[in-house]
Amino acid sequence: MTALITASSLGVRLGGRRVLHDVDFRIAPGEIVTVVGPNGSGKSTLLRSLIGAVRSETGTVTRKDGLRLSYVPQRLQIDPSLPMTVGRFLDLPTPATGAARQAALAEAGAGELPARQLADLSGGQMQRVLLARALLNRPELLLLDEPTQGLDQPGSAAFYQRIEALRDRTGCAILMVSHELHVVMSASDRVICLNGHICCEGHPETVAQAAEYRALFGSGTGGALALYRHEHDHGHAHDHDHGHDHNHDHGSAPRHDHAEAG
Ligand SMILES: Nc1ncnc2c1ncn2[C@@H]1O[C@H](COP(=O)(O)OP(=O)(O)OP(=O)(O)O)[C@@H](O)[C@H]1O
Ligand SMILES: [Mg+2]
Repeated sequence: MTALITASSLGVRLGGRRVLHDVDFRIAPGEIVTVVGPNGSGKSTLLRSLIGAVRSETGTVTRKDGLRLSYVPQRLQIDPSLPMTVGRFLDLPTPATGAARQAALAEAGAGELPARQLADLSGGQMQRVLLARALLNRPELLLLDEPTQGLDQPGSAAFYQRIEALRDRTGCAILMVSHELHVVMSASDRVICLNGHICCEGHPETVAQAAEYRALFGSGTGGALALYRHEHDHGHAHDHDHGHDHNHDHGSAPRHDHAEAG
């Protein structure tokens, strides 16, 4: 299948430092790929290279002709004193029709928000508005840089569930950055573990078992994985009940031998 974006031997240098090297990456239509890695490992830089916002030092990035792509950056600076409704925000930079705006908001789970002031939104509402804005040009590829930052675990799980439903309905491919392996596990087809280069990649469970991944994140994440499995087995992964304290206490995660091995 033709890839939407292909990077070959990609290397990026910023401020004299080598940030990425020898990165080979491709994403196929409809795929959900999650990039994990420590702070400063080049995750945001990789996304920015793929959209052409950062110049590569070596290698190539090839995008499918006419690729419709939406990108939500990790940080969006919005002046809190700026009066602007959600509806108006969605019209920037390109005005959308009322119907398109409402459809995008509904898809992102923010259907009730168009008249609200941006500055008044909670973190989770803002993430949904940013997703709605990204959906307006009907992307074939959606790049989301830490879309669940600041959300609690049920909020993150709900967000990933929404992303998966979006992919299933529209066939849109999604490349996102996340630190939350335990929730990412359920929604990703492939996980890439990045630390300046691709340390390991594959099915989420395979990556979680990889020595390279363990070296970066330690075996504690095995507990997180076990936690996810536990929740998943019992149908709690997408539960919105904030009262489940096992959602917030990784230390008491059930220990499954297969998740803790190695
Ligand atoms: N414009 C820049 N000039 C110089 N160095 C930069 C620039 N942007 C990023 N860097 C450096 O490149 C490295 C990778 O940064 P990047 O933002 O891609 O990391 P990240 O994996 O997204 O981290 P985080 O998890 O904190 O978001 C860091 O060491 C960062 O300081
Ligand atoms: Mg980043």
